Amino acid sequence: MDHHLAIKILFAALYLSTNLKQSNGAATLSAGQSLVDDGHVLTSPSQIFELGFFSPRSSSTPRFLGIWYTATPHVVVWVANRQHPLIALNGVLSLSKNANLTLTSAQGTTLWSSNSSTQLSNPLLHLTDYGNLVIEDNSKILLWQSFDNPSDTLLPGMKLLQETETPNVNVLTSWKSDNDPSLGEFSFGIVNGGLSQIITMKGKERRYRAIYWDGHFPGFPDSVDATWNAEVSSTGGKLLSFFQPLKKSVHTRLIMNSSGSFQRFVMDERGAGWIPMITSPRDSCDNYGWCGVNGVCRIYKTPECECLRGFKPKSDKEWRLFDWRSGCSRNPPLDCQKEDGFLKIQGVKFPDSLSFQLNTSMSIEECRDQCLKNCNCTAYADPYFRNETNCLMWFGDLIDIREQAVDTRDGPSVYIRVAATELDLAKKAKGSAKTKFILIAVFTTMLVLVSCLGGLLTWRCRKQGYRKASEELELPLFDLATIVAATNNFSGENMLGEGGFGPVYKGNLSAGKVVAVKRMSRYSGQGDEEFKNEIILISNLQHRNLVRILGCCIEGEEKMLVYEYMLNKSLDYYIFDQERGLLLDWSKRFEIIMGIARGLMYLHHDSRLKIIHRDLKTSNILLDESLNAKISDFGIARMFGGDQTAARTKRVVGTYGYMAPEYAFDGKFSMKSDVFSMGVVILEIVSGKRNRGFKCALGYQNLLEQAWLLWKENRELELMDPCYNKSSYVEWQVRRCIQVGLLCVQNAAEERPMMPSVVLMLSSEDTVLPQPKRPVFFMQSEPSNENKCNSCTVTISEVQGR
Ligand SMILES: *[C@@H]1O[C@H](CO)[C@@H](O)[C@H](O)[C@H]1NC(C)=O
Ligand SMILES: *[C@@H]1O[C@H](CO)[C@@H](O)[C@H](O)[C@H]1NC(C)=O
Ligand SMILES: *[C@@H]1O[C@H](CO)[C@@H](O)[C@H](O)[C@H]1NC(C)=O
Ligand SMILES: *[C@@H]1O[C@H](CO)[C@@H](O)[C@H](O)[C@H]1NC(C)=O
Ligand SMILES: *[C@@H]1O[C@H](CO)[C@@H](O)[C@H](O)[C@H]1NC(C)=O
Ligand SMILES: *[C@@H]1O[C@H](CO)[C@@H](O)[C@H](O)[C@H]1NC(C)=O
Repeated sequence: MDHHLAIKILFAALYLSTNLKQSNGAATLSAGQSLVDDGHVLTSPSQIFELGFFSPRSSSTPRFLGIWYTATPHVVVWVANRQHPLIALNGVLSLSKNANLTLTSAQGTTLWSSNSSTQLSNPLLHLTDYGNLVIEDNSKILLWQSFDNPSDTLLPGMKLLQETETPNVNVLTSWKSDNDPSLGEFSFGIVNGGLSQIITMKGKERRYRAIYWDGHFPGFPDSVDATWNAEVSSTGGKLLSFFQPLKKSVHTRLIMNSSGSFQRFVMDERGAGWIPMITSPRDSCDNYGWCGVNGVCRIYKTPECECLRGFKPKSDKEWRLFDWRSGCSRNPPLDCQKEDGFLKIQGVKFPDSLSFQLNTSMSIEECRDQCLKNCNCTAYADPYFRNETNCLMWFGDLIDIREQAVDTRDGPSVYIRVAATELDLAKKAKGSAKTKFILIAVFTTMLVLVSCLGGLLTWRCRKQGYRKASEELELPLFDLATIVAATNNFSGENMLGEGGFGPVYKGNLSAGKVVAVKRMSRYSGQGDEEFKNEIILISNLQHRNLVRILGCCIEGEEKMLVYEYMLNKSLDYYIFDQERGLLLDWSKRFEIIMGIARGLMYLHHDSRLKIIHRDLKTSNILLDESLNAKISDFGIARMFGGDQTAARTKRVVGTYGYMAPEYAFDGKFSMKSDVFSMGVVILEIVSGKRNRGFKCALGYQNLLEQAWLLWKENRELELMDPCYNKSSYVEWQVRRCIQVGLLCVQNAAEERPMMPSVVLMLSSEDTVLPQPKRPVFFMQSEPSNENKCNSCTVTISEVQGR
């Protein structure tokens, strides 16, 4: 199984099914020589790529000249005669004495030519190990290369834009369909207007856009693993390409696919196949102009579209129906006098530069003045990070703005022009929010204020390094006395459980306000300032699948975090209990799995902090009143000690049963060790059994082994928790969860998928999954409470879910 190469992977259509005869490949083609369609190929020095004739269909024609990976399944990365297929197996590729490479049919029709030329003799054609087809003259001067004429695939080292910028403006163009390499409707390229952006088009319309800012693409799923280095090359802030070679041995490619998604694949190092890593657009907010003009998209909000401050929906009716395309118009109107002002929005994708002016010798203050002077100027920004002398002004409507991440302090900011009245409103709103906050703060400390002698101060953690007061994030700092009172002096009765870093207590702050207090163990060695800073970072993380932090408490030895209280306890309370397990039917369980996956993906990729949880387990998944999953304890790993956030730690926190082998044995942790835990959690939710302390009459060592063996025999449905109503489950979802779970618990960290792939694989029935490899069952099961096997002793006729 492990060595089985014929693995079904996504997008099977990209792979050639037929007609690639194995044969001796030549290394070069010199002037006067030709390559004919008889199975011969031109091979790169290390046999990574081949150039030859192929048919993308199961029939032998039409024929194309192309370059593909030699590894099976063959993936075509470049096609010469996309628009002019050969209709018979009679193609001839020849290199002329003056270096013109031509593809002709036997009848002599020219189907494609490189149009290159040289005065010198002896040009040579060869294929590099990077997949570049190159014509050089005899002094090794480059005359032509396929990298300058990309098809639908971007390979490492390929420049999307030439440094001279003209005449080559390279774009990737999708195939028309899976088995038709002719020009499709989607394209992908770099545009350097006011902003440097990468843009996906559908025909003449924009479909997706990512801006280049401060050396990366905020919000574009980049830099996610060791094989991917979204290294950007640019000059003067202008983007040239963003995909440089990293290692010859790691094969990775980006493709504009025929249904309009931009995808990145990495070849599994053991040759098991291509693993999809990123896809964009990722979500609806990524769709170009999703919220219409002057709207802003926030994916975690419902509804996700809102008008910018100072704007109102053009059509209330359409907006109520979640159709935002008509966008927003200004309300109140600008008075176009000096009274107008600007509101800063931070951490957003800049609006598209449709009508803009870029001045590279203006300070941001001058920029503001200039914008104010022109009534048509609607916004301004410094488009190139930390460059004092760049001013980008937008005119007219602003389109395609989305919030990139909630932790956006360092994200790009743009100043939106608003009328003076709106500015006043904004100030008042801030004021009232502040008042509200103070009220809460006062409320929460009421007990203390009543019982204390002196004036106890409530103060707030303040965000460090902030320039403007209005941008401060305010996180209540609770004082110890409040917490002591609320938790009944940390009484055993109030204890909710024990987390990786200390016990958690239920706290009653004041009438009706219930919180959870996590009391950190004392030996953290972390200073108060560091602790505060960390909390501020972490409190910026907001996601519907993360437990919200409400405040902190630092006093003497004590360090505590105050969280929202989750009414429905933790997931383990339900799934490992025969009766309570009934409350979670399959659809709820699947929702919970998706929720956890999204939450973890957010921690790993979508927040700029890139947090590794290190202790993901069912008891760290809390359920709110609607049984939505929320990950807790995140960020604590990050908070505790700088040296521990390095890739290796001496103090292994975590829980046996959920720990990846490399972490348990070696202290080595990464996003992939979290993925391992995620896999265990998925399998536990599906089966209702614990991995650790697994004890079952059927004689399996642990849950992973059982899942693996059942899956191998195609009996994975037997893994399902027998205690919930089986008629309600969706078979593909269950099968998928088990397979994805097994992919996540694979022994080799590099073989485990990243979270975006996990979410993708779970959410769609259509994606074909890679085959998992056998996990290592390294845990010795320990004697423990009896785990239920595939039997259900409790029968309850009807249970009402909440
Ligand atoms: C293109 O990519 C998207 C997203 O990954 C996927 O759903 C779709 O099936 C792909 N299309 C093709 C033709 O492979
Ligand atoms: C070569 O020139 C022909 C005729 O001008 C043109 O149609 C073709 O696209 C050119 N080929 C390349 C690879 O630029
Ligand atoms: C290359 O060959 C093609 C086809 O014969 C021809 O149309 C084109 O003009 C040639 N280009 C050069 C630069 O020789
Ligand atoms: C840029 O701004 C400076 C200072 O205001 C001005 O002198 C210059 O003409 C502007 N350049 C362009 C291209 O608008
Ligand atoms: C503002 O836009 C209007 C309409 O497009 C145009 O007529 C006018 O000249 C512009 N004003 C300035 C100062 O650019
Ligand atoms: C700032 O912008 C100017 C003008 O575009 C450019 O020459 C300079 O290199 C930039 N500086 C940095 C640090 O990017």
